[in-house]
Amino acid sequence: MFVVGLTGGIGAGKSAVSERFARLGVPVVDTDVIARELTAPGGEALPSIREAFGGSVFTQAGELDRAALRRQVFADPAARARLETILHPRIRHIAGQRLAALDAPYALLVVPLLLETGAYADLVQRTLLVDCPETMRVERVMARSALTRSDIEAIVAAQWRDDERRAAVDDRLDNAGGMEALDAAVTALHTRYLELARAAAGL
Ligand SMILES: Nc1ncnc2c1ncn2[C@@H]1O[C@H](COP(=O)(O)OP(=O)(O)OP(=O)(O)O)[C@@H](O)[C@H]1O
Ligand SMILES: [Mg+2]
Repeated sequence: MFVVGLTGGIGAGKSAVSERFARLGVPVVDTDVIARELTAPGGEALPSIREAFGGSVFTQAGELDRAALRRQVFADPAARARLETILHPRIRHIAGQRLAALDAPYALLVVPLLLETGAYADLVQRTLLVDCPETMRVERVMARSALTRSDIEAIVAAQWRDDERRAAVDDRLDNAGGMEALDAAVTALHTRYLELARAAAGL
């Protein structure tokens, strides 16, 4: 199947964009969703996380303390690498399984670190960047969540720069406008991806 890999920095609008593709009937596999499943109560990755990071990243009730873990990994590149070694192979494996089970002209695979990890190149035929200026992304994420500006800036610093992303992708969706502009851009891309999927399938 033709798979479009969707990426973008924190708060760029990946979820907003993938929701719109889903509304058009495009199946979406989201690696953030898989990561959350792996780390939810009973999640497959929890024993390895406890082994690597200890009890300080778990609440008294035994659930993963996401804020505590995030603070550790964005302050310490070695800790981040440890967490990635635990999560990324599992996420990639499950994403591949979910894509293989789909029956559709094309599907969307949402991977925040698609470009940074390079681990999804064999799963995606095309890449789409949700692009939005960093200042706007920080404001949008602060409005959306409990993350502080410095939390967000630490995450931004761990990701690629916008110019690096732009140079690496096939397509770019400019999400500096409002939600209506976003609808129109997604609809146009959907038409294009249906054509590309058809061509790739030799139809
Ligand atoms: N075009 C837009 N106009 C106004 N607000 C927007 C627009 N696109 C997204 N937003 C808002 O900005 C915030 C970030 O968007 P979204 O959650 O889709 O980004 P994301 O890339 O999925 O972020 P993350 O990296 O944290 O998963 C959300 O609150 C969303 O509603
Ligand atoms: Mg998101």
